[in-house]
Amino acid sequence: MKKNIVILGTQWGDEGKGKIVDYLSRYSAYVVRYHGGHNAGHTLVVDQKKIVLHLIPSGLLHPDVIGIISNGVVISISELVKEIEMLKKNNFFIDKRLFISNSASLILPFHIALDLEREKKLGVNAIGTTGRGIGPAYEDKIARRSLRIGDLNNEKKLSIKLEKIVNYYNDQLVSIYKHKSFDYKVILKDLLESKNIINDMITDTNIMLYSAIKNKKTIIFEGAQGSLLDIDHGTYPYVTSSNSTIGGVITGTGVGPKSLDYILGVTKAYSTRVGNGPFPTELFNDIDNYLSKKGNEFGSTTGRKRRTGWLDGVALRYAVQLNSLSALCITKLDVLDNLKEIKVCIAYQNMNTLEIHTNTSFNNLENMKPVYEIYPGWMEKTSGITKIEDLPNAAQHYIKCIEKIAGIPVDIISTGPNRNDTILVRNIFL
Ligand code: GDP
Ligand code: IMO
Ligand code: MG
Repeated sequence: MKKNIVILGTQWGDEGKGKIVDYLSRYSAYVVRYHGGHNAGHTLVVDQKKIVLHLIPSGLLHPDVIGIISNGVVISISELVKEIEMLKKNNFFIDKRLFISNSASLILPFHIALDLEREKKLGVNAIGTTGRGIGPAYEDKIARRSLRIGDLNNEKKLSIKLEKIVNYYNDQLVSIYKHKSFDYKVILKDLLESKNIINDMITDTNIMLYSAIKNKKTIIFEGAQGSLLDIDHGTYPYVTSSNSTIGGVITGTGVGPKSLDYILGVTKAYSTRVGNGPFPTELFNDIDNYLSKKGNEFGSTTGRKRRTGWLDGVALRYAVQLNSLSALCITKLDVLDNLKEIKVCIAYQNMNTLEIHTNTSFNNLENMKPVYEIYPGWMEKTSGITKIEDLPNAAQHYIKCIEKIAGIPVDIISTGPNRNDTILVRNIFL
């Protein structure tokens, strides 16, 4: 029986991780967000109600699930408080069910200002960040100058640390970017106000997780972003500032690799990317328009139009290797319903040497052109289907082809945004 499950994205984010975490959380006791920040946007649709979560673990819509935001996450307390209030307004009560690591680093207003100013200055070379201060906040963590959640417990120390860091940022923001300076007293006041709301949630989440593992509780680890946005293994520099591949679970929670029983890679039936950077299978034609519209491919966090393309089998195999994936979950199969034919990239051709590569370095994709295999579409409605045998033959064939390309089974298929628009090919908890 699988106890501890990681759910992470295999592409450039927005694969539908949130929906799958929410769906599988009915079988789990804990759900843990372990990296990233409010750059993530995870959309859940339950009883026709759409909820977008950025920081709060997606399992918390189930009334008995305990949520943890662990040490690897960078937290904007004001955003977290907004999200807690949004859930309350929607009648989801998470009192005494959400816990926050005392060693998670904070995102503060000057991180956001610097992120935005840098992007402005980069002009056409911008990364296309979400503008949420993620990069600067992780820089502080690595440079050992972060304010951490635990610092909120000592007002005097917090004030001294905050004044120092605000001065550090004001120097850059004012002199390089001509930005207005920040007053640490204003930030301090806001922090202390929000602290009252989250005070009882702050704890050592490592200890909580060790105890959960010892007591054989089921835990879902919820990834954010996607493997190709990983700071080490993605399409650098067009990446995010954390490890969105499997290593992020271990450093981001303090749970060791032997405690992870099953790693599920969530993969959209086609590809999307928000922000800049290489995207070999990108489409610029009617099919892009079709996928955008039918898949509603607009960012859950920033509202930006997502770039779209065919499924990239080379990238998928890379994600399988990087993350030691146990199985795949294919999402948004229904979005392909009206296409006569469907392409999947099975190799890249280097346009300088004309060599064909079935594996490649994702550090340099510049001259790589996709080599496609073409599959027949099914031209039938699959949305809402919950049994694999009810899928049209061509759709079943498409899933089989993905399994072959990836070299691992497809255990879950998603056929719509609603929680129950899901085919559980194999119940991984049994
Ligand atoms: P995440 O960041 O990986 O959690 O994904 P997002 O929530 O940002 O984006 C996925 C979008 O697709 C959301 O709007 C979901 O409601 C929607 N979605 C998820 N699964 C499916 C599916 O199988 N079919 C369709 N049509 N929409 C889906
Ligand atoms: P979820 O969890 C899609 C992208 C941004 C940009 C790059 C760096 O919803 O899948 P950042 O703000 O992190 O410094 O931006 O990463 N990005 C995402 N793209 N989904 C996400 O999260 C993303 N989080 C960051 O668009 O290209
Ligand atoms: Mg998203």
